[in-house]
Amino acid sequence: MSMTFASSDADALPLHVVHQGEFGSWLSAQPQVVKNWIEAQDFTPAVGKAILVPDKTGNPAFALIGYGNALTRSRTRLPLAAAAANLPQGTYTLATTLPDGDLETETLGWLLSAYLFDRYKYKPHKSARLVCPPGVDSARVEAIAAAEALTRNLINTPASDMGPADLEVAAQKLASRYEGAVNVITGDALLKQNFPLVHAVGRAADRPRAPRLIDLRWGTQGPKLTVVGKGVCFDTGGLNLKPGASMALMKKDMGGAATAMGLAHMIMALQLPIQLRLLIPAVENSVSANSFRPGDILTSREGMTIEVNNTDAEGRLVLADALTLASEDSPDLLVSIATLTGAARVAVGPDLAPYFCDDTEVCHALEHAAELVSDPVWRLPFWSAYEKMIEPEIADLDNAPSGGFGGSITAALFLRRFAQNQRYVHFDIYGWNPSNAPARPKGGVGMGARALFQALPNLLAI
Ligand code: BES
Ligand code: ZN
Ligand code: ZN
Repeated sequence: MSMTFASSDADALPLHVVHQGEFGSWLSAQPQVVKNWIEAQDFTPAVGKAILVPDKTGNPAFALIGYGNALTRSRTRLPLAAAAANLPQGTYTLATTLPDGDLETETLGWLLSAYLFDRYKYKPHKSARLVCPPGVDSARVEAIAAAEALTRNLINTPASDMGPADLEVAAQKLASRYEGAVNVITGDALLKQNFPLVHAVGRAADRPRAPRLIDLRWGTQGPKLTVVGKGVCFDTGGLNLKPGASMALMKKDMGGAATAMGLAHMIMALQLPIQLRLLIPAVENSVSANSFRPGDILTSREGMTIEVNNTDAEGRLVLADALTLASEDSPDLLVSIATLTGAARVAVGPDLAPYFCDDTEVCHALEHAAELVSDPVWRLPFWSAYEKMIEPEIADLDNAPSGGFGGSITAALFLRRFAQNQRYVHFDIYGWNPSNAPARPKGGVGMGARALFQALPNLLAI
Protein backbone atom coordinates (compact mmCIF):
# COMPACT_ATOMS: atom_id res chain seq x y z
CA MET A 1 0.00 0.00 0.00
CA SER A 2 1.64 3.18 -1.12
CA MET A 3 -0.10 6.35 -0.12
CA THR A 4 2.58 8.76 -1.24
CA PHE A 5 3.25 10.52 -4.51
CA ALA A 6 5.63 8.99 -7.05
CA SER A 7 8.90 10.82 -7.37
CA SER A 8 9.08 12.80 -10.57
CA ASP A 9 9.71 10.36 -13.35
CA ALA A 10 10.54 10.98 -17.00
CA ASP A 11 8.74 7.74 -17.90
CA ALA A 12 5.52 8.68 -16.17
CA LEU A 13 2.56 8.33 -18.49
CA PRO A 14 0.76 11.56 -19.27
CA LEU A 15 -2.77 11.48 -17.94
CA HIS A 16 -5.49 13.31 -19.82
CA VAL A 17 -8.64 14.13 -17.93
CA VAL A 18 -11.65 14.86 -20.10
CA HIS A 19 -15.12 15.83 -19.06
CA GLN A 20 -18.23 15.19 -21.04
CA GLY A 21 -18.62 18.68 -22.47
CA GLU A 22 -15.21 18.76 -24.10
CA PHE A 23 -14.81 15.14 -25.10
CA GLY A 24 -16.10 15.58 -28.67
CA SER A 25 -13.74 18.42 -29.50
CA TRP A 26 -10.86 16.71 -27.72
CA LEU A 27 -11.40 13.55 -29.73
CA SER A 28 -11.68 15.30 -33.06
CA ALA A 29 -8.29 16.93 -32.45
CA GLN A 30 -6.63 13.51 -32.09
CA PRO A 31 -4.89 11.61 -34.91
CA GLN A 32 -6.98 8.95 -36.61
CA VAL A 33 -5.18 6.01 -34.94
CA VAL A 34 -5.96 7.43 -31.53
CA LYS A 35 -9.59 8.04 -32.47
CA ASN A 36 -9.89 4.48 -33.74
CA TRP A 37 -8.45 3.05 -30.55
CA ILE A 38 -10.61 5.09 -28.23
CA GLU A 39 -13.76 4.29 -30.17
CA ALA A 40 -12.87 0.59 -30.24
CA GLN A 41 -12.55 0.65 -26.42
CA ASP A 42 -16.10 1.97 -26.02
CA PHE A 43 -14.61 4.75 -23.95
CA THR A 44 -17.01 7.35 -22.61
CA PRO A 45 -15.89 10.24 -20.41
CA ALA A 46 -17.99 9.04 -17.48
CA VAL A 47 -16.60 9.37 -13.96
CA GLY A 48 -14.27 6.45 -13.22
CA LYS A 49 -13.57 5.44 -16.83
CA ALA A 50 -9.89 4.90 -17.53
CA ILE A 51 -7.98 3.51 -20.51
CA LEU A 52 -4.45 3.49 -21.83
CA VAL A 53 -3.85 4.67 -25.40
CA PRO A 54 -0.91 3.10 -27.26
CA ASP A 55 1.63 4.60 -29.62
CA LYS A 56 2.46 2.99 -32.95
CA THR A 57 4.76 0.43 -31.31
CA GLY A 58 2.00 -0.81 -29.05
CA ASN A 59 3.45 0.78 -25.91
CA PRO A 60 1.22 3.05 -23.88
CA ALA A 61 1.49 6.67 -24.99
CA PHE A 62 -0.88 8.21 -22.49
CA ALA A 63 -3.79 7.45 -20.21
CA LEU A 64 -7.24 8.88 -20.61
CA ILE A 65 -9.75 9.22 -17.83
CA GLY A 66 -13.31 10.44 -17.70
CA TYR A 67 -14.47 13.23 -15.44
CA GLY A 68 -18.20 13.08 -16.17
CA ASN A 69 -20.20 16.27 -15.96
CA ALA A 70 -21.22 18.56 -13.13
CA LEU A 71 -24.26 16.42 -12.35
CA THR A 72 -22.47 13.08 -12.23
CA ARG A 73 -19.56 14.60 -10.32
CA SER A 74 -21.99 15.87 -7.71
CA ARG A 75 -22.84 12.22 -7.11
CA THR A 76 -19.26 11.05 -6.84
CA ARG A 77 -17.00 12.45 -4.23
CA LEU A 78 -13.37 12.47 -5.43
CA PRO A 79 -13.84 11.65 -9.15
CA LEU A 80 -10.08 11.42 -9.79
CA ALA A 81 -9.88 8.62 -7.24
CA ALA A 82 -12.66 6.78 -9.06
CA ALA A 83 -10.50 6.66 -12.20
CA ALA A 84 -7.23 5.99 -10.37
CA ALA A 85 -8.64 2.74 -9.07
CA ASN A 86 -9.23 1.59 -12.65
CA LEU A 87 -5.78 2.38 -14.04
CA PRO A 88 -3.14 -0.29 -14.42
CA GLN A 89 -0.05 -0.27 -12.24
CA GLY A 90 2.38 2.45 -13.25
CA THR A 91 3.29 6.06 -12.75
CA TYR A 92 1.14 8.84 -14.10
CA THR A 93 1.47 12.56 -14.41
CA LEU A 94 -1.44 14.94 -14.96
CA ALA A 95 -1.24 16.40 -18.46
CA THR A 96 -4.34 18.56 -18.21
CA THR A 97 -5.66 20.91 -15.59
CA LEU A 98 -8.69 19.49 -13.82
CA PRO A 99 -11.98 20.84 -15.14
CA ASP A 100 -13.06 21.72 -11.62
CA GLY A 101 -12.64 20.60 -8.06
CA ASP A 102 -9.81 21.37 -5.74
CA LEU A 103 -6.59 19.91 -7.12
CA GLU A 104 -5.14 19.21 -3.69
CA THR A 105 -8.30 17.37 -2.62
CA GLU A 106 -8.42 15.37 -5.84
CA THR A 107 -4.80 14.27 -5.49
CA LEU A 108 -5.51 13.33 -1.87
CA GLY A 109 -8.34 11.19 -3.23
CA TRP A 110 -5.84 9.47 -5.50
CA LEU A 111 -3.56 8.63 -2.57
CA LEU A 112 -6.50 7.42 -0.48
CA SER A 113 -7.64 5.13 -3.28
CA ALA A 114 -4.56 3.00 -2.49
CA TYR A 115 -5.72 2.32 1.09
CA LEU A 116 -6.09 -1.35 2.00
CA PHE A 117 -6.63 -2.99 5.37
CA ASP A 118 -4.37 -6.01 5.10
CA ARG A 119 -3.34 -6.66 8.70
CA TYR A 120 -4.99 -10.08 8.78
CA LYS A 121 -4.98 -11.18 5.15
CA TYR A 122 -2.59 -10.48 2.34
CA LYS A 123 -4.31 -8.80 -0.55
CA PRO A 124 -2.55 -8.35 -3.85
CA HIS A 125 -2.83 -4.75 -4.88
CA LYS A 126 -1.84 -2.79 -7.88
CA SER A 127 -0.97 0.79 -7.45
CA ALA A 128 -1.33 3.48 -10.00
CA ARG A 129 0.94 6.20 -8.67
CA LEU A 130 0.69 9.88 -9.33
CA VAL A 131 3.48 12.41 -9.68
CA CYS A 132 2.55 15.34 -7.46
CA PRO A 133 1.23 18.08 -9.77
CA PRO A 134 2.91 21.48 -9.59
CA GLY A 135 1.31 23.76 -7.03
CA VAL A 136 0.19 20.91 -4.77
CA ASP A 137 1.92 20.71 -1.39
CA SER A 138 2.97 17.06 -1.44
CA ALA A 139 4.02 16.94 2.22
CA ARG A 140 0.63 18.26 3.26
CA VAL A 141 -1.38 15.86 1.10
CA GLU A 142 0.73 12.89 2.15
CA ALA A 143 0.36 13.78 5.84
CA ILE A 144 -3.41 14.01 5.49
CA ALA A 145 -3.49 10.66 3.67
CA ALA A 146 -1.34 9.04 6.37
CA ALA A 147 -3.62 10.47 9.06
CA GLU A 148 -6.70 9.05 7.37
CA ALA A 149 -4.99 5.66 6.99
CA LEU A 150 -4.25 5.72 10.72
CA THR A 151 -7.92 6.42 11.48
CA ARG A 152 -9.09 3.61 9.20
CA ASN A 153 -6.58 1.10 10.59
CA LEU A 154 -7.62 1.85 14.15
CA ILE A 155 -11.32 1.43 13.35
CA ASN A 156 -10.88 -1.67 11.19
CA THR A 157 -8.82 -3.48 13.81
CA PRO A 158 -11.17 -5.72 15.78
CA ALA A 159 -11.65 -5.25 19.51
CA SER A 160 -9.51 -8.36 20.16
CA ASP A 161 -6.51 -6.27 19.08
CA MET A 162 -7.87 -2.78 19.78
CA GLY A 163 -8.83 -2.60 23.43
CA PRO A 164 -8.31 0.43 25.67
CA ALA A 165 -4.66 -0.55 26.21
CA ASP A 166 -4.08 -0.79 22.45
CA LEU A 167 -5.63 2.62 21.94
CA GLU A 168 -3.24 3.91 24.59
CA VAL A 169 -0.28 2.36 22.73
CA ALA A 170 -1.47 3.99 19.50
CA ALA A 171 -1.65 7.38 21.22
CA GLN A 172 1.83 6.88 22.74
CA LYS A 173 3.22 5.97 19.35
CA LEU A 174 1.68 9.01 17.71
CA ALA A 175 2.92 11.31 20.47
CA SER A 176 6.46 9.97 20.48
CA ARG A 177 6.73 10.47 16.73
CA TYR A 178 6.06 14.18 17.15
CA GLU A 179 7.47 14.70 20.62
CA GLY A 180 4.13 15.05 22.31
CA ALA A 181 3.48 13.93 25.89
CA VAL A 182 0.91 11.42 27.03
CA ASN A 183 -0.54 11.04 30.49
CA VAL A 184 -2.85 8.10 31.19
CA ILE A 185 -5.07 7.50 34.21
CA THR A 186 -6.10 3.85 34.44
CA GLY A 187 -8.46 1.68 36.45
CA ASP A 188 -9.10 2.60 40.08
CA ALA A 189 -6.94 5.71 39.72
CA LEU A 190 -9.86 7.09 37.70
CA LEU A 191 -11.91 7.12 40.91
CA LYS A 192 -9.16 8.72 42.97
CA GLN A 193 -8.69 11.43 40.37
CA ASN A 194 -12.40 11.96 39.98
CA PHE A 195 -13.42 10.47 36.65
CA PRO A 196 -16.35 8.46 38.00
CA LEU A 197 -18.22 8.09 34.71
CA VAL A 198 -15.24 6.77 32.76
CA HIS A 199 -14.69 4.30 35.57
CA ALA A 200 -18.34 3.23 35.86
CA VAL A 201 -18.72 2.49 32.15
CA GLY A 202 -15.40 0.67 31.82
CA ARG A 203 -15.10 -1.17 35.10
CA ALA A 204 -16.75 -4.42 33.94
CA ALA A 205 -14.02 -5.12 31.42
CA ASP A 206 -11.26 -7.63 32.00
CA ARG A 207 -8.32 -6.16 33.97
CA PRO A 208 -5.88 -5.77 31.09
CA ARG A 209 -8.67 -3.95 29.30
CA ALA A 210 -9.33 -1.59 32.23
CA PRO A 211 -10.85 1.81 31.49
CA ARG A 212 -8.49 4.74 31.10
CA LEU A 213 -8.33 8.39 30.22
CA ILE A 214 -5.66 9.10 27.62
CA ASP A 215 -4.43 12.70 27.65
CA LEU A 216 -2.04 13.72 24.86
CA ARG A 217 -0.51 17.17 24.69
CA TRP A 218 1.56 18.68 21.94
CA GLY A 219 2.76 22.21 21.20
CA THR A 220 3.71 24.91 23.65
CA GLN A 221 2.54 28.09 21.98
CA GLY A 222 -0.51 29.49 20.29
CA PRO A 223 -4.23 29.04 20.74
CA LYS A 224 -5.51 26.00 22.58
CA LEU A 225 -7.44 23.31 20.77
CA THR A 226 -8.82 20.37 22.72
CA VAL A 227 -10.29 17.39 20.89
CA VAL A 228 -12.19 14.72 22.78
CA GLY A 229 -12.79 11.39 21.04
CA LYS A 230 -15.14 8.61 22.12
CA GLY A 231 -12.96 5.56 22.65
CA VAL A 232 -15.45 2.78 23.34
CA CYS A 233 -13.37 -0.11 22.06
CA PHE A 234 -16.36 -2.39 22.02
CA ASP A 235 -19.95 -1.54 22.85
CA THR A 236 -21.97 -4.57 23.93
CA GLY A 237 -24.59 -2.17 25.30
CA GLY A 238 -23.73 -3.34 28.82
CA LEU A 239 -26.59 -4.88 30.85
CA ASN A 240 -28.97 -3.32 28.33
CA LEU A 241 -27.31 -5.74 25.96
CA LYS A 242 -27.50 -4.97 22.26
CA PRO A 243 -29.08 -7.62 20.06
CA GLY A 244 -26.58 -9.45 17.84
CA ALA A 245 -27.22 -7.49 14.68
CA SER A 246 -26.76 -4.17 16.47
CA MET A 247 -23.59 -5.35 18.21
CA ALA A 248 -21.92 -6.72 15.10
CA LEU A 249 -20.12 -3.55 14.08
CA MET A 250 -19.39 -2.19 17.54
CA LYS A 251 -15.62 -2.51 17.17
CA LYS A 252 -16.06 0.83 15.44
CA ASP A 253 -17.34 2.53 18.59
CA MET A 254 -13.88 4.06 19.03
CA GLY A 255 -14.34 5.77 15.66
CA GLY A 256 -14.47 9.18 17.33
CA ALA A 257 -11.14 8.53 19.05
CA ALA A 258 -9.66 7.23 15.79
CA THR A 259 -10.86 10.29 13.90
CA ALA A 260 -9.56 12.60 16.63
CA MET A 261 -6.20 10.83 16.44
CA GLY A 262 -6.17 11.33 12.68
CA LEU A 263 -6.82 15.03 13.19
CA ALA A 264 -4.04 15.17 15.80
CA HIS A 265 -1.72 13.45 13.33
CA MET A 266 -2.42 16.11 10.70
CA ILE A 267 -1.86 18.94 13.20
CA MET A 268 1.41 17.54 14.52
CA ALA A 269 2.83 16.38 11.18
CA LEU A 270 2.18 19.77 9.63
CA GLN A 271 3.23 21.63 12.77
CA LEU A 272 0.29 23.92 13.28
CA PRO A 273 1.26 26.69 15.71
CA ILE A 274 -1.22 25.66 18.37
CA GLN A 275 -1.41 23.93 21.73
CA LEU A 276 -3.16 20.67 21.05
CA ARG A 277 -4.74 18.45 23.64
CA LEU A 278 -6.30 15.13 22.72
CA LEU A 279 -8.48 13.43 25.32
CA ILE A 280 -9.66 9.88 24.82
CA PRO A 281 -11.77 8.12 27.40
CA ALA A 282 -10.96 4.54 26.39
CA VAL A 283 -13.26 1.84 27.72
CA GLU A 284 -14.97 -1.37 26.86
CA ASN A 285 -18.70 -1.39 27.60
CA SER A 286 -18.93 -4.97 28.89
CA VAL A 287 -21.19 -7.24 30.86
CA SER A 288 -20.05 -8.53 34.23
CA ALA A 289 -21.16 -8.80 37.85
CA ASN A 290 -19.72 -5.34 38.45
CA SER A 291 -21.30 -3.67 35.43
CA PHE A 292 -23.03 -0.37 36.07
CA ARG A 293 -26.78 -0.86 36.02
CA PRO A 294 -29.94 0.68 34.62
CA GLY A 295 -31.35 2.91 37.33
CA ASP A 296 -27.96 3.66 38.90
CA ILE A 297 -27.38 7.28 39.70
CA LEU A 298 -23.80 8.40 39.10
CA THR A 299 -22.16 11.64 40.10
CA SER A 300 -20.05 13.11 37.33
CA ARG A 301 -16.68 14.84 37.68
CA GLU A 302 -18.52 18.11 37.21
CA GLY A 303 -20.84 17.29 40.11
CA MET A 304 -24.10 16.78 38.24
CA THR A 305 -25.91 13.53 38.99
CA ILE A 306 -26.94 11.26 36.16
CA GLU A 307 -29.65 8.65 36.16
CA VAL A 308 -28.58 5.77 33.95
CA ASN A 309 -31.70 4.78 32.09
CA ASN A 310 -29.84 2.75 29.52
CA THR A 311 -26.33 1.33 29.88
CA ASP A 312 -26.07 1.44 26.09
CA ALA A 313 -25.99 5.25 26.18
CA GLU A 314 -22.44 4.98 27.55
CA GLY A 315 -20.65 7.29 25.14
CA ARG A 316 -22.13 10.49 26.57
CA LEU A 317 -21.12 9.34 30.05
CA VAL A 318 -17.43 8.84 29.35
CA LEU A 319 -17.35 11.98 27.21
CA ALA A 320 -18.96 14.05 29.96
CA ASP A 321 -16.04 13.57 32.35
CA ALA A 322 -13.52 14.18 29.57
CA LEU A 323 -15.34 17.38 28.54
CA THR A 324 -15.28 18.59 32.14
CA LEU A 325 -11.53 18.05 32.29
CA ALA A 326 -11.15 19.79 28.93
CA SER A 327 -13.17 22.79 30.12
CA GLU A 328 -10.99 23.15 33.20
CA ASP A 329 -8.23 24.72 31.13
CA SER A 330 -10.50 26.84 28.93
CA PRO A 331 -9.40 25.93 25.40
CA ASP A 332 -10.02 28.40 22.57
CA LEU A 333 -11.93 25.66 20.79
CA LEU A 334 -13.33 22.43 22.16
CA VAL A 335 -14.32 19.63 19.80
CA SER A 336 -15.85 16.25 20.52
CA ILE A 337 -16.06 13.46 17.96
CA ALA A 338 -18.09 10.36 18.71
CA THR A 339 -20.04 7.48 17.22
CA LEU A 340 -22.64 8.59 19.69
CA THR A 341 -26.09 7.64 18.46
CA GLY A 342 -27.87 5.38 16.03
CA ALA A 343 -30.25 8.31 15.53
CA ALA A 344 -27.56 10.34 13.72
CA ARG A 345 -27.10 7.66 11.11
CA VAL A 346 -30.87 7.41 10.64
CA ALA A 347 -31.06 11.19 10.19
CA VAL A 348 -28.30 11.70 7.60
CA GLY A 349 -26.99 8.30 6.52
CA PRO A 350 -23.38 7.18 6.50
CA ASP A 351 -21.91 9.83 4.16
CA LEU A 352 -22.41 13.00 6.14
CA ALA A 353 -20.85 14.00 9.43
CA PRO A 354 -23.60 15.61 11.52
CA TYR A 355 -22.32 18.27 13.85
CA PHE A 356 -23.65 20.66 16.48
CA CYS A 357 -22.38 24.13 17.22
CA ASP A 358 -23.94 27.32 18.61
CA ASP A 359 -21.50 29.68 16.93
CA THR A 360 -22.62 30.53 13.41
CA GLU A 361 -19.21 31.84 12.40
CA VAL A 362 -17.65 28.53 13.33
CA CYS A 363 -20.37 26.75 11.34
CA HIS A 364 -19.71 28.85 8.26
CA ALA A 365 -15.97 28.29 8.39
CA LEU A 366 -16.47 24.58 8.90
CA GLU A 367 -18.96 24.16 6.08
CA HIS A 368 -16.84 26.15 3.67
CA ALA A 369 -13.80 24.01 4.52
CA ALA A 370 -15.83 20.80 4.33
CA GLU A 371 -16.93 21.57 0.81
CA LEU A 372 -13.42 22.44 -0.34
CA VAL A 373 -11.93 19.18 0.90
CA SER A 374 -14.90 16.92 0.05
CA ASP A 375 -15.45 15.94 3.67
CA PRO A 376 -19.11 16.83 4.00
CA VAL A 377 -20.63 17.93 7.28
CA TRP A 378 -24.23 18.77 8.14
CA ARG A 379 -25.40 20.95 10.99
CA LEU A 380 -28.01 19.67 13.42
CA PRO A 381 -29.44 21.90 16.13
CA PHE A 382 -28.62 22.15 19.81
CA TRP A 383 -32.39 22.54 20.28
CA SER A 384 -32.71 23.98 23.78
CA ALA A 385 -36.43 23.27 24.01
CA TYR A 386 -35.52 19.60 24.29
CA GLU A 387 -33.43 20.18 27.41
CA LYS A 388 -36.37 19.04 29.49
CA MET A 389 -36.15 15.63 27.83
CA ILE A 390 -32.79 15.00 29.49
CA GLU A 391 -34.00 16.08 32.96
CA PRO A 392 -35.37 13.13 34.96
CA GLU A 393 -37.33 13.18 38.23
CA ILE A 394 -34.67 12.18 40.71
CA ALA A 395 -31.32 13.27 39.25
CA ASP A 396 -29.92 16.22 37.28
CA LEU A 397 -29.60 14.41 33.97
CA ASP A 398 -30.99 11.35 32.19
CA ASN A 399 -28.57 9.54 29.87
CA ALA A 400 -31.33 7.95 27.76
CA PRO A 401 -34.60 9.86 27.45
CA SER A 402 -37.52 7.59 26.77
CA GLY A 403 -39.15 7.78 23.38
CA GLY A 404 -35.92 8.51 21.58
CA PHE A 405 -37.23 11.63 19.84
CA GLY A 406 -34.32 13.59 18.36
CA GLY A 407 -31.87 11.07 19.78
CA SER A 408 -28.79 12.72 18.30
CA ILE A 409 -29.96 16.12 19.54
CA THR A 410 -30.68 15.02 23.10
CA ALA A 411 -27.27 13.30 23.24
CA ALA A 412 -25.64 16.53 22.04
CA LEU A 413 -27.56 18.57 24.62
CA PHE A 414 -26.33 16.19 27.29
CA LEU A 415 -22.72 16.80 26.23
CA ARG A 416 -23.24 20.55 26.03
CA ARG A 417 -24.02 20.57 29.75
CA PHE A 418 -20.37 19.65 30.29
CA ALA A 419 -18.96 22.18 27.84
CA GLN A 420 -20.58 25.33 29.23
CA ASN A 421 -18.90 28.65 28.40
CA GLN A 422 -16.77 26.99 25.73
CA ARG A 423 -16.62 27.49 22.00
CA TYR A 424 -17.80 23.97 21.34
CA VAL A 425 -18.32 21.77 18.28
CA HIS A 426 -19.64 18.24 18.62
CA PHE A 427 -19.64 15.61 15.84
CA ASP A 428 -21.92 12.56 15.99
CA ILE A 429 -20.32 10.44 13.27
CA TYR A 430 -20.91 6.96 11.87
CA GLY A 431 -17.24 6.21 11.26
CA TRP A 432 -17.92 3.44 8.82
CA ASN A 433 -18.42 3.19 5.10
CA PRO A 434 -20.97 0.44 4.41
CA SER A 435 -19.99 -0.04 0.75
CA ASN A 436 -17.03 0.62 -1.49
CA ALA A 437 -16.73 4.14 -2.89
CA PRO A 438 -13.87 5.99 -4.60
CA ALA A 439 -11.07 6.54 -2.08
CA ARG A 440 -13.29 5.14 0.66
CA PRO A 441 -13.38 1.36 0.69
CA LYS A 442 -15.93 -0.45 2.79
CA GLY A 443 -14.87 -0.20 6.43
CA GLY A 444 -13.64 2.35 8.91
CA VAL A 445 -13.47 5.92 7.69
CA GLY A 446 -12.63 9.29 9.19
CA MET A 447 -15.43 11.85 9.06
CA GLY A 448 -15.12 15.57 9.70
CA ALA A 449 -11.41 15.54 10.57
CA ARG A 450 -10.24 16.88 7.22
CA ALA A 451 -12.92 19.57 7.28
CA LEU A 452 -11.87 20.58 10.79
CA PHE A 453 -8.21 20.59 9.83
CA GLN A 454 -8.90 22.78 6.83
CA ALA A 455 -10.96 25.18 8.95
CA LEU A 456 -8.51 25.44 11.86
CA PRO A 457 -6.49 28.42 10.61
CA ASN A 458 -9.74 30.34 10.38
CA LEU A 459 -11.24 29.01 13.63
CA LEU A 460 -8.11 29.65 15.68
CA ALA A 461 -6.88 32.74 13.81
CA ILE A 462 -3.46 31.24 13.09
N1 BES B 1 -22.42 3.28 19.97
C1 BES B 1 -23.82 3.50 20.00
C2 BES B 1 -24.33 4.39 18.88
C3 BES B 1 -24.29 3.84 17.49
C4 BES B 1 -25.07 2.76 17.13
C5 BES B 1 -23.55 4.50 16.54
C6 BES B 1 -25.04 2.32 15.83
C7 BES B 1 -23.54 4.08 15.24
C8 BES B 1 -24.29 2.96 14.91
C9 BES B 1 -24.24 4.17 21.30
O1 BES B 1 -23.46 3.88 22.41
C10 BES B 1 -25.65 3.73 21.58
O2 BES B 1 -25.88 2.57 21.66
N2 BES B 1 -26.56 4.68 21.68
C11 BES B 1 -27.93 4.41 21.88
C12 BES B 1 -28.46 5.44 22.83
C13 BES B 1 -29.86 5.16 23.33
C14 BES B 1 -29.84 3.92 24.20
C15 BES B 1 -30.35 6.36 24.10
C16 BES B 1 -28.67 4.49 20.54
O3 BES B 1 -28.33 5.35 19.73
O4 BES B 1 -29.53 3.66 20.31
ZN1 ZN C 1 -23.99 2.12 23.43
ZN1 ZN D 1 -21.45 3.39 22.01
